[in-house]
Amino acid sequence: MDKKSPLPYADQTMVTLLGRDPARHSGSVSPPVERTSTRVFSTLDDLEAAHSTGKLSDFLGSATPDWLEDAVAQLEGPGSHVLACGTGMGALAIVFLSVLGSGDHLLMPDSVFWPTRKVGDGLLRRLGIDVSYYDPMIGAEIAEQIRPETRLILTESPGSNTFEVQDIPAITKAAHAAGVLVALDNSWATPLYFRALDHGVDFSISAVTKYLIGHSGALMGTVATSGEHIARLRDTANQMGSGCAPDEVFLALRGLRTLAIRLRHHGEAGLRIATWLQQRPEVLTVLHPALPSCPGHEIWQRDFTGCTGLFSITMSRLSRAELVCFLESLKLFKLGYSWGGFESLILPVYPENERTVTPWTQDGTVVRINVGLEDPGDLVADLESAFRQLAKFGQISKS
Ligand SMILES: Cc1ncc(COP(=O)(O)O)c(C=O)c1O
Repeated sequence: MDKKSPLPYADQTMVTLLGRDPARHSGSVSPPVERTSTRVFSTLDDLEAAHSTGKLSDFLGSATPDWLEDAVAQLEGPGSHVLACGTGMGALAIVFLSVLGSGDHLLMPDSVFWPTRKVGDGLLRRLGIDVSYYDPMIGAEIAEQIRPETRLILTESPGSNTFEVQDIPAITKAAHAAGVLVALDNSWATPLYFRALDHGVDFSISAVTKYLIGHSGALMGTVATSGEHIARLRDTANQMGSGCAPDEVFLALRGLRTLAIRLRHHGEAGLRIATWLQQRPEVLTVLHPALPSCPGHEIWQRDFTGCTGLFSITMSRLSRAELVCFLESLKLFKLGYSWGGFESLILPVYPENERTVTPWTQDGTVVRINVGLEDPGDLVADLESAFRQLAKFGQISKS
């Protein structure tokens, strides 16, 4: 049994058991996909009782997402309730629109996922919500950024592309002392490696698109929260007409079965490759939470129970031609957005164009790497061969 888990078995066993009950489905090992838009009732009393629960699937739409919600709630920890949403972005938007209204203030880390920043600067500002950004390494000093009208602090740990690990317990302590709620984009760690609600977070958001689905086959998101907030989230989701398709939930439940063993592989292979990259002359820094070169590494050691397969490196500043040569020489690492699937991906990222309160001053070209499920030796060989191509441009070194 996992030392930290209140569940009866280790995570690897739990993910095989949760979100299904063969006894309810003629022995079928997985819940059948229920495709429906409505439910019919024999009595008016039954119809009205179903309508009054506040749960849409009690009277309208598929109940297949309930299996996923139930499984994720158990992984997120005791007392948690989960809402499944059509995408990770949808999960973030539902939290924002449930908590914030005109005149309220939202704090976001300067390392936030770029599309989330766009929601803050676009949709939320249009609705009269003020958004400001803070240094992701701020810790307890977040208290100084809290205003009387602050209602929510978004955290994302590690930060998108630059991987700063945030001091979530310090932030939640300061926030709660001021009556402010805290949301965390926990997509990188998943509840298997960071139990957000146990660390004081009010809304634990995951882009299920990434590791839980794990096969690059669908988009989905979840929000976990306490009983206090779940009705509000469901109500917002219902008013927005947000939901997820039962066939895609089936893919998520299938992904769940192998989540623990996949994450272990992503973590081990990612760390092996990150450590190898540290020794390369072309690489200036490796931004991987499990390595001391990453801001907040000690916090990762203190609070997380594992690492996954997404990290960045800064390389000696590359010209466009050098960058194109390096990226396009790779055969296994494909150029693509998103991450968390079985396939390795690579992407140049530009934190210098995104930051507004903590300018990105590190020298070099930043490249984000998603380590998939291929053999790590093959992935190292792929990178090594691309570095050899790059060498044709002349000496590229740490100095
Ligand atoms: C950190 C983070 N949060 C949220 C999302 C959004 O997830 P989705 O693609 O399911 O909308 C992403 C997607 O890349 C992400 O990287």
